[in-house]
Amino acid sequence: MLQLDSVSKIYPGNTKAVDNISLKIPDGEFCVLLGPSGAGKSTLMGLINGLVLPTSGSVYLDDEEVNSRNQKKVQQRISMIHQQLHLVPRLSMLHNVLSGKLHALPLWRALIKHFSDDDQRRACQLLSEVGLRENQLHRRVSALSGGQQQRVAIARAFMAHPEMVLADEPVASLDPTVSRSVLASLKYTSQQHKTTVVCSLHQVDYALEFADRIIAMRAGAIVFDGSPDQISESALTEIYKQEPKIKVEPRQPEGDIPQEVVAA
Ligand SMILES: Nc1ncnc2c1ncn2[C@@H]1O[C@H](COP(=O)(O)OP(=O)(O)OP(=O)(O)O)[C@@H](O)[C@H]1O
Ligand SMILES: [Mg+2]
Repeated sequence: MLQLDSVSKIYPGNTKAVDNISLKIPDGEFCVLLGPSGAGKSTLMGLINGLVLPTSGSVYLDDEEVNSRNQKKVQQRISMIHQQLHLVPRLSMLHNVLSGKLHALPLWRALIKHFSDDDQRRACQLLSEVGLRENQLHRRVSALSGGQQQRVAIARAFMAHPEMVLADEPVASLDPTVSRSVLASLKYTSQQHKTTVVCSLHQVDYALEFADRIIAMRAGAIVFDGSPDQISESALTEIYKQEPKIKVEPRQPEGDIPQEVVAA
């Protein structure tokens, strides 16, 4: 289980990106983070895997506190799927998926890219779970569509048996039909491996369709936490409401300017 106790993150410049969040995410949950741009979703994900360290409060993965001493260890238990996939374009789909295992391999095996038969079987299995065909295994990633590349990134994220997968806007650059099908693949794969997922999205309809639980943030705080059927239209309006525009005071009429200022 993941647990956050009164976690805040203030960036230099005094931006409070995450404001006193306490949260428990049980194993196996498919949790979607919603919220307008700047709400703190990516920062929250960074706090979960130790890429961002809290200004105050604590993050625990089971009994292990996520802190500066064990960032690397935690990142081996939690995989991340970025919007900018970070695949290696000249390598095949299969090798990109296998590369998800690299941190878990001894250095000499990683250097000669020696993957066991079990690893190869797992990579093929994952590629089929995310909806890619076996006859495409050796295609270069650079020759794949955006949706296919995102599927490869999902398969790679599951390669090293993570306990949790974080996906930061995984379908932001895909068209709606492909997005839906890629999210369905992510959900299916997480169910097959009983892996917890925290996925940030900007599309409310996908959150309603795929999430076990929706956590909505605004200005660093959680403003909704519940199942998709608990979230109301008015709650959604509140999450995404526009901040009132800054009121501009009308300029003083010229006649009111003191004479000495005009003279100067
Ligand atoms: N490294 C940083 N240094 C300073 N401020 C930062 C940094 N990263 C994020 N912020 C600020 O923290 C706040 C939260 O940013 P964050 O990226 O977590 O939001 P988000 O919900 O992921 O937004 P988006 O939907 O646009 O990705 C924003 O005001 C942002 O400008
Ligand atoms: Mg973000």
